[in-house]
Amino acid sequence: MTILVTGGAGYIGSHTCVELLNAGYDVICVDNYYNSVPEVLNRVETITGKSLKKYECDIRDREGLEKIFGENKVDAVIHFAGLKAVGESARLPLLYYENNISGSVVLFETMEKFNCKKIVFSSSATVYGNNPIPYKEDMITGDVSNPYGRTKHFIEQILGDVYQADNEWSISLLRYFNPIGAHESGLIGEDPNGIPNNLMPYIARVAIGRLPQLTVFGGDYDTKDGTCIRDYIHVVDLAKAHLCAVAKILDTTGIEAYNIGNGVGYSVLDIVHAFEKASGKKLNYVIGDRRAGDLPAFYADASKANTELGWKAEYGIEKMCEDTWNFQTKNPEGIK
Ligand code: NAD
Ligand code: WQD
Repeated sequence: MTILVTGGAGYIGSHTCVELLNAGYDVICVDNYYNSVPEVLNRVETITGKSLKKYECDIRDREGLEKIFGENKVDAVIHFAGLKAVGESARLPLLYYENNISGSVVLFETMEKFNCKKIVFSSSATVYGNNPIPYKEDMITGDVSNPYGRTKHFIEQILGDVYQADNEWSISLLRYFNPIGAHESGLIGEDPNGIPNNLMPYIARVAIGRLPQLTVFGGDYDTKDGTCIRDYIHVVDLAKAHLCAVAKILDTTGIEAYNIGNGVGYSVLDIVHAFEKASGKKLNYVIGDRRAGDLPAFYADASKANTELGWKAEYGIEKMCEDTWNFQTKNPEGIK
């Protein structure tokens, strides 16, 4: 079976390529390396001892995609390619709509043209907006506060319409919570360009000395220690969820959304302290103002993924922090 992975050189995509290759799938990676480097794919091959097909291509490039689909018989697609910085999306909404939505439409049209109607899409817990917690898949979604999140909601809606029009499609919408951690080899992990927006890569860079101090965004929330609560999920657990979703879509038709989280909420300070323990380093941090748009607390009800996909997260925050630190110390300047 051949799986085409868009955005396969990125953080979650690369870990998923490892799991796909380990499970015996043939893998084709399509990435424009906007937020990754080709070396990541060499490392995926080192970890697995297997090779994958690599195409440098933008998903908005219809001719490029058609060539790839023409050269390969693709059984299913896992679609990671997209831009993901919430703050940037508010400054550059059209870039996000163009890249994420237009790119996805070109991809879906190409799939249809080549009669490939099976897809796993990287959605996000952000689509739930201000719902009560824990989030469940049958809640009304779309009350989202930023353009990035809206691209995820709109693409979910587009795929819903695609299925309504043609019941031969098989679509899995995976709503990720907060992915952190790295492959335990330390060869691949999260390596954002510039100053990280997300908590864990920021912490890792403070611990290694590349950034002076972490600001904890808000210490006055109505939570156990005043800091925000999130559902952190090890990226390898998340990658394995894609294997379960692929197995399901290869066998069925329909469209289903699944929460991919641990189902447990940890505060920012829980993560800071777990990281200090894993790294043996005291972390320099201050409590600062709240960040605009942050919700006080959310976590998943991940029981549907357990019942219907047979998937469950295995790793806790200790392992997430250990593996992040291992990756950071082995790649202090990132992956070149
Ligand atoms: P990432 O930036 O590390 O990976 C995305 C990859 O897609 C990169 O390699 C990038 O170069 C590529 N890409 C972007 N636009 C492209 C285009 N037009 N054509 C071809 N390639 C393109 O991000 P990630 O953290 O691995 O996230 C993967 C997916 O999961 C994204 O769709 C993201 O929105 C979604 N997601 C991420 C998180 C998170 O916190 N990391 C949470 C929920 C959902
Ligand atoms: C986690 C917690 C911050 C940085 C985002 C997207 C979401 C999804 C995952 C893609 C929050 C706090 C952070 C810092 C801090 N991505 N924090 N200091 O905001 O929960 O979710 O990434 O779909 O859509 O919104 O993740 O890692 O940015 O923040 O105190 O320097 O850490 O306030 O409570 P978030 P995050």
